[in-house]
Amino acid sequence: MLVNGRPYQTIWMDESDQDRIHYINQEVLPFEFKIEEMHSSSDSYDMIRRMNVRGAPLIGVTAAFGIYLACLEAKTQPEPQVYLREQAALIREARPTAVNLSWAVDRMMKKIANAAKPEHMIMVARPEALKIREEELQASYMIGQHGLEIIRGISERKNGKVVNILTHCNAGWLACIDYGTATSPIYQAFDEQIPVHVWVDETRPRNQGARLTAWELGQHGVPHTVIVDNAGGHIMQKGLVDLVITGSDRTTRSGDVANKIGTYLKALAARDNDIPFYVALPVSTIDFTIDSGIEEIPIEERDPDEVRVMEGISDGKIQSVRIIPEESPVSNYGFDIAPSRLITGLITEKGICGARESEIMKLID
Ligand code: MRU
Repeated sequence: MLVNGRPYQTIWMDESDQDRIHYINQEVLPFEFKIEEMHSSSDSYDMIRRMNVRGAPLIGVTAAFGIYLACLEAKTQPEPQVYLREQAALIREARPTAVNLSWAVDRMMKKIANAAKPEHMIMVARPEALKIREEELQASYMIGQHGLEIIRGISERKNGKVVNILTHCNAGWLACIDYGTATSPIYQAFDEQIPVHVWVDETRPRNQGARLTAWELGQHGVPHTVIVDNAGGHIMQKGLVDLVITGSDRTTRSGDVANKIGTYLKALAARDNDIPFYVALPVSTIDFTIDSGIEEIPIEERDPDEVRVMEGISDGKIQSVRIIPEESPVSNYGFDIAPSRLITGLITEKGICGARESEIMKLID
């Protein structure tokens, strides 16, 4: 999507030097727009862990490139296969909730399994990483095509009046390769001149909504308003929300969704106000091995300092300030579970289905 009027994607291989991977560093957005380089498989671990790159699909693609770089590194290792397995285990551990991470690592390792020499590993790994990237890109586009019909329907029912959509966290193009998941239908509706307006949850503690979603919508010219996380219920009661669309970090085969902390509360409020609550996700985000989100999805707990300290810009410099008493204990849960019963539908690249095992299975067949 556009940044200062120029199209960008979040991560890409250098056209003239295939050992170089470039990415947008999301840790400093929206204050600075920085393109950086990933040099090694350990870099990919650090980038995911530090959240220089984040969002389930992008985490998966970064991991795939990480495995490719591990194959390059394996050339100078005494035991290339052992080294590769160690790096794969490391990358897999970077963050626990988004299933795209282990999915991408496993897919790369399976592809490489029969390559004995590093040269062969590289020959297999490079196109596979690029394929995963391309598939995620296409999936985001198709999610937009399917989700667009929901927005178009609401717009028609409202006789062309503005469709108000609430989203949580950043399930935008920054979380993917391009277009986004939750934002893809919004961008496509906007580009078709359907009047839309987005309520952007700030999404404490990392403020992905306020920092990233607001920035990317603004860059594309999509009307939006940032609200504090607790405002969602109020604006729903006032009739100011027509539709909620969020992303997912892991969806179980029965349709439970793990997404950024606070998603569950939005799903509850949407249900209480009869507002459709959709989750947009590529099929790579579905974990077919598990059934119950609450019992089986690991929920990341991050550094308490993310809650203690707020980051912003002052005098042109990114600064941090502590916002709670120094001695107060803090918990920092990264995700929660929206149970399938609260979800109106799943918008995937293959179409829209109910959040139920039978419908999910039918869709992917
Ligand atoms: O902690 P984050 O920023 O990686 O969490 C991201 C989310 O919760 C997104 O909604 C999810 O990954 C879907 S991205 C299309």
